[in-house]
Amino acid sequence: MTNQRPDLRILSAAAWADHVADSLAGRFANDPGLRVCLPTGSTPVPVYDALPRALAGAGGSVGRSAIVLLDEYLDMPAGHPARCDTQLRRMLIDRLAPAPARFITFDVDGGDPVAACVALDAAIDAIGGLDLVLLGLGVNGHIGMNEPGTPAQAETRVVDLAPTTMTAAGRYGADPLPTRGVTLGMAEILAAREIWLLVSGARKAGILAGSLDGPITPDVPASLLRGHPGLRVIADDAAVSDLGA
Ligand code: PGA
Repeated sequence: MTNQRPDLRILSAAAWADHVADSLAGRFANDPGLRVCLPTGSTPVPVYDALPRALAGAGGSVGRSAIVLLDEYLDMPAGHPARCDTQLRRMLIDRLAPAPARFITFDVDGGDPVAACVALDAAIDAIGGLDLVLLGLGVNGHIGMNEPGTPAQAETRVVDLAPTTMTAAGRYGADPLPTRGVTLGMAEILAAREIWLLVSGARKAGILAGSLDGPITPDVPASLLRGHPGLRVIADDAAVSDLGA
């Protein structure tokens, strides 16, 4: 089991984003009520750029679907450009016509982040669970904001951010850098029917190899995904350069 490889799809850098966008558009075309959780960060940017055209090509729409945000920073004002909800709106939601029937985010502006986690899980339960979770891969192996040290049973919760995660928020203009966040838990991610781990660029080659070829351990939360029967890893050439044969 430890060395079992998941469904691994390797694309050229030029073809990678269109492949992911076309695959996702196909899911929306087959299941207009799709319930999908989406990440922010740099990895999905070209995928989201390609998605409106891919949806048109596939005859799909998000008009009856539910889109759930994977994670969110705490202690950042509403509308801040670094906020995950702002990012996903800008990168994707605002560019989709029709808009998704539901866009479910963490309500972190009410002053009670624990309640925001409870409410997010309740909203997912109310739509009947998640069909598909798309994920980026942190350079430290994190999944969402499930940082190294997170067991597979960890639920949706308030978390302290790892230094690399704080630094990443600075790329979007966060100042001061956030130190806390809320994230869909590993348990809720692993409860989804399908998981697609999106990995691009040489910067992720080492941690992708660690996640797929190394031990399954909370030290590398992405490695915990290997226990999921619906895991698909979609990587570009550069990201797989450290993988074993
Ligand atoms: P990136 O981050 O897509 O900005 O590289 C991924 C992550 O940290 O989850």
